[in-house]
Amino acid sequence: MTVEMDKIVSLCKRRGIIFQNSEIYGGIGNTWDYGPIGVELKRNVKDAWWKSVVYERDDMEGLDAAILMNPATWKASGHLESFTDPLVDCKKCKHRFKLDDINGDRCPDCGGELTEERSFNLMFKTFIGPVEDNASVAYLRPETAQGIFVNFLNVQKMMRRKIPFGIAQIGKSFRNEITPGNFTFRTREFEQMEIEYFVKPGTDEECYKRWVEERFNWYLDLGINKEHLRLREHESDELAHYAKSCVDIEYLFPMGWAELEGIANRGDFDLRQHSEHSGKDLCYFDEAAKEKYIPYVIEPSAGADRATLAFLIDSYREEKVKKEKRVVLAFKNCLAPIKVAVLPLLRNRPDIVETARSIAGDLRREFKAVYDDTASIGRLYRRQDEIGTPYCITVDVQSMDDHQVTVRDRDSMQQVRVPIEGIKAYLKDCHAQEKLVERGNK
Ligand code: GAP
Repeated sequence: MTVEMDKIVSLCKRRGIIFQNSEIYGGIGNTWDYGPIGVELKRNVKDAWWKSVVYERDDMEGLDAAILMNPATWKASGHLESFTDPLVDCKKCKHRFKLDDINGDRCPDCGGELTEERSFNLMFKTFIGPVEDNASVAYLRPETAQGIFVNFLNVQKMMRRKIPFGIAQIGKSFRNEITPGNFTFRTREFEQMEIEYFVKPGTDEECYKRWVEERFNWYLDLGINKEHLRLREHESDELAHYAKSCVDIEYLFPMGWAELEGIANRGDFDLRQHSEHSGKDLCYFDEAAKEKYIPYVIEPSAGADRATLAFLIDSYREEKVKKEKRVVLAFKNCLAPIKVAVLPLLRNRPDIVETARSIAGDLRREFKAVYDDTASIGRLYRRQDEIGTPYCITVDVQSMDDHQVTVRDRDSMQQVRVPIEGIKAYLKDCHAQEKLVERGNK
């Protein structure tokens, strides 16, 4: 049983993780801002992804393409024509629904009569320059993928890559979703972490399977409970217009199983379309085999916001400690927004405060470290537990004599005394230990 979404939303607000966007004006539906703690968490999620798919592999390159693209891109990609949701409206209560969400032919809210279905394009349209006419129409990209396809030859040639190789990109995408909701699960502006992996036709299915396994394990390695993850193969009638096959990695969100990441075999659809529409030959020439072909593409496509939400939900724990409720976000160290908090036991003792500040200053060079003396030690611990800080260092009266501090472990709440000069090495060691455990679990 996972935690209710309301608890996550309220914790996120209370602890500076996620705020409602433009809240002072009453907000704008289903749009969220990452606060000081949330921005660190989401950045750690993106860094963990980049490390795993770019730095730890020798067959990947990175890219950061623009959000606005030549609109011809969207004609070629099929998004102008096919990136639509069929909609119906209730004639009585005026509520709007995706046809997919309706069972039967009456309004699910009031039982009223429904209109005929209409197609609604999910792309946000805008205009470049001062004149709002057809010649100046542009779209906010609905997926980062197309920025990769149009750069396929640039990357392949300039980086002297041989197939198979892939391109990874993290960036914002925009969709005028009809039914956004469930906190950051479905929003109109979101961040994607996408890979387009180019392979020789015929080797695609095997490569597709490898990526599914690789990406599934990524979530497990970062601490998601195996029971909360599953794979779901798409039926042929739900495949996107470009996909030969697709499997979703689903997570057990509070509202039920839902897509976390999709891995698709896009065949040669995109490169072929872009070749035809641009008139540029996007074939790959295999020097050794003297063969020319349009590569097939395997696409693992994840959402940075959705993954962040899943890590938040999965790490949420409520415990009873001395008859009091303790809320903990039990993140893996690498995801924790703050790695260590330094807390003085007495804030009216200048020597204790100075020592604590100096330890925090020193640690800051290596870890995301904070100093906090704004409450009693019990409250400070609770605050750090709720944002998932794995270690708290307390400087007390005894520290002034023995030059040792207390290190408290978030999960076990066990405390050990560590010499001040050895604290950095101690924390580095804890981090290394966690990595070893991860590797053992694989
Ligand atoms: N290039 C393929 C593609 O965009 P998708 O399944 O539509 O595929 C991939 O999107 C991932 O992007 C999803 O698995 C999800 O994590 C994230 N995503 C898609 N739409 C989203 C939305 N409206 N809000 C938040 N995340 C979204």
